[in-house]
Amino acid sequence: MRLKDKATLITGATAGIGEACAKLFAREGAKVLMSGRDQARGDAVLEAIRQAGGTAEFVTGDLRQDGVCDKLVAETVARYGRIDVLVNNAGILYSAPAAETTDEQWSDTFAVNVTAVFQLARAALKAMIAQGGGSIVNIASESGLNGEPGLTAYCASKGAVVQMTKCMALDHIGDNVRINSVCPGETRTKMIDDWLESLDGDIEDNVNELAKILPIRRLARPEEVAYAALFLASDESSYCVGTNLSCDGGNAATGGPYPV
Ligand SMILES: NC(=O)c1ccc[n+]([C@@H]2O[C@H](COP(=O)([O-])OP(=O)(O)OC[C@H]3O[C@@H](n4cnc5c(N)ncnc54)[C@H](OP(=O)(O)O)[C@@H]3O)[C@@H](O)[C@H]2O)c1
Repeated sequence: MRLKDKATLITGATAGIGEACAKLFAREGAKVLMSGRDQARGDAVLEAIRQAGGTAEFVTGDLRQDGVCDKLVAETVARYGRIDVLVNNAGILYSAPAAETTDEQWSDTFAVNVTAVFQLARAALKAMIAQGGGSIVNIASESGLNGEPGLTAYCASKGAVVQMTKCMALDHIGDNVRINSVCPGETRTKMIDDWLESLDGDIEDNVNELAKILPIRRLARPEEVAYAALFLASDESSYCVGTNLSCDGGNAATGGPYPV
């Protein structure tokens, strides 16, 4: 088991990539504290993990609200005695051209994708430093490495996560806390379905059209991204510090998410 008894907080564990991380990490022996807002979906993931013999608990919380990030880290320490791993996964995406992006979309994007990531990492760092080490994995995006039309707020927020990962990693390299990110490409989750649904045409046709322009010619499954996060969370990545690991079916290799 690659994360045996590791106390692990995973945000956005009620769906998509976070759900896949929660299930995979629990299979690898982690004691998982899942967070999200949707009680029913959280309970369903929790049940699946427990049925499979894993250890997990679910705490609801909206990451935009004051004090929630600190509370989630404190809950992890209270329930499991420490926090070895934080997966900063929760994220949101609004699609709109820059001139039509509203103040609310901008501030919401930054509240969830940037401020909460910082506040969770800061709280986790304090606990990890006190206990002698840990590992933080941010789920950034290929959109943090390249520009994309219609995604100014999202790309700016993920660019911030990429830079935060590098800076925080250097600040705390001497504290035995490693901080890295995964930069996924298009992954078949509700987030990508919602975006494809907002475009003209049938959603499955849009999925197929999107797949055609990806070097690998298909979207990722959430589990494929979870395996990249598992590597960075585990001691197997002991020499990875401030890395932004692309897991994108070849997109970064093209210099941008555009046709090859
Ligand atoms: N899918 C992709 O193609 C893709 C590509 C690159 C990067 N990513 C990144 O991967 C991460 C996961 O995305 P996904 O595709 O799995 O998205 P998803 O299926 O939409 O899931 C998003 C998760 O974030 C949680 N969340 C959203 N707003 C929240 C809030 N205010 N407070 C607490 N939790 C909140 C949701 O939980 P509740 O609904 O329960 O609140 C949900 O569990 C995100 O950071 C995303 O930017 C995704």
